[in-house]
Amino acid sequence: MRTIIEPFRIKSVEPLRHTTPAERESYLAGAGYNLFLIDARNILIDLLTDSGTSAMSTGQWAALMRGDESYAGGDSFFRLKKVVDELTGFRNMVPTHQGRAAERILFTVLCKAGHVVPSNTHFDTTRANIEFTGARAMDLPIAEARDTQSQGDFKGNMDVNALEALIAIQGAKRVPLVMLTVTNNSGGGQPVSMANIEAVKAVCARHGIPLYLDACRFAENAWFIRQREAGYVDWTPKQIAQKMFLLADGCTFSAKKDAFANIGGLLCSNDDSVFAQESNLLILTEGFPTYGGLAGRDLEAIAVGLEEILDADYLHYRITSTGYLGRHIADHGVPIVEPPGGHAIYIDAARMLPHIPPEQFPGQALAVELYRHAGIRSVEIGTLMFGAAARHELLRLAIPRRVYTQSHIDYVVEAILEVNARKAEIRGLEIVNAPPFLRHFSARMRQL
Ligand code: F0G
Repeated sequence: MRTIIEPFRIKSVEPLRHTTPAERESYLAGAGYNLFLIDARNILIDLLTDSGTSAMSTGQWAALMRGDESYAGGDSFFRLKKVVDELTGFRNMVPTHQGRAAERILFTVLCKAGHVVPSNTHFDTTRANIEFTGARAMDLPIAEARDTQSQGDFKGNMDVNALEALIAIQGAKRVPLVMLTVTNNSGGGQPVSMANIEAVKAVCARHGIPLYLDACRFAENAWFIRQREAGYVDWTPKQIAQKMFLLADGCTFSAKKDAFANIGGLLCSNDDSVFAQESNLLILTEGFPTYGGLAGRDLEAIAVGLEEILDADYLHYRITSTGYLGRHIADHGVPIVEPPGGHAIYIDAARMLPHIPPEQFPGQALAVELYRHAGIRSVEIGTLMFGAAARHELLRLAIPRRVYTQSHIDYVVEAILEVNARKAEIRGLEIVNAPPFLRHFSARMRQL
């Protein structure tokens, strides 16, 4: 059969609420044209993020009842640890309340002023957590990633020569770790090849620098490796993921993505002395190491989710359905980051709206227009989010896992094509007030 169906049926539903154009106009003005400040009840289709927005399975809901809420040494921790051990092979693991908590603890232990932390591309919380310690976060994507229209298989890769050059200039002592974000979220949801992970690991090993994965979307990355990299077609997604983790010395993980959980994270490491310091810090702000800021039932949901996410039928559907949205808008003239990513489609707003300069936030202007037109929420990943560090002006349409059906996506396609047909009328924005960093969450703007 050529038709790819959602590999699940629906047992419990949430109603969606339509709004009128006049209502949306007033919500936009009230929110300072910042979609983070619009109440979710006023959104029809929410593509703000794929994080924490997954639909849990019957297996996960059933597992919640098994949650052991003991303060120390609960069964749920050991069930999760067994799954994580088998998947990642890392010697040590603690839960955290979400990915950024793992980042904060890791960087607090490893980083200080004068340090540089390279990545293929840091996510915004990763960058902010590194820079909060006084260290510098540096993105080293491959040159091919600069061209949103090129059709590379692994545009999420790190530029290994640039990494070598950086270490030569800085000295290995000033590079406390190297990170690889799989998939490369801020770089368009593009995957990282196994060959690239191996090459980065070889450089790290030569200089005695640990390699950490920002493993939020490890299963989607594994699926891309299976589809696109020679030699992996007969491997299961789990075997590929195991090899990815084996090449790393530790990871941060947001269970809100590739574990189908609504909350949670993990911090893993092979280094016992680093881990001992991390566990102490964990107690300070997250909790005892066997629950780390989560309820026992959350640990159960993550344990089940980590196994479900590696199902080949699910991953086939997931990557194909994201591509469906991408192809249907790109083939009608909307420039997207090519090829379609795993968890999201990214519209190249600079290319679509050349009349709006970066300082007037073309990605945000497009996000506002899409909400205004059809009640769809998306997110800017460009100058509003990253300031001068922005490499592109993107609008991300992130797809929550197992939540929307094909007809929802068809509605999104129709809305985007209608907005594209009158793109010359879209106007830029200027900031009225904003905090000094992570400004995209709360900046208030004015439409020009
Ligand atoms: N790393 C990456 C690559 C991410 O995409 C995220 C979150 C995090 C780390 C932090 O994890 O949210 O659990 O604290 N990304 C979400 C997004 C928020 O919308 O892309 P968290």
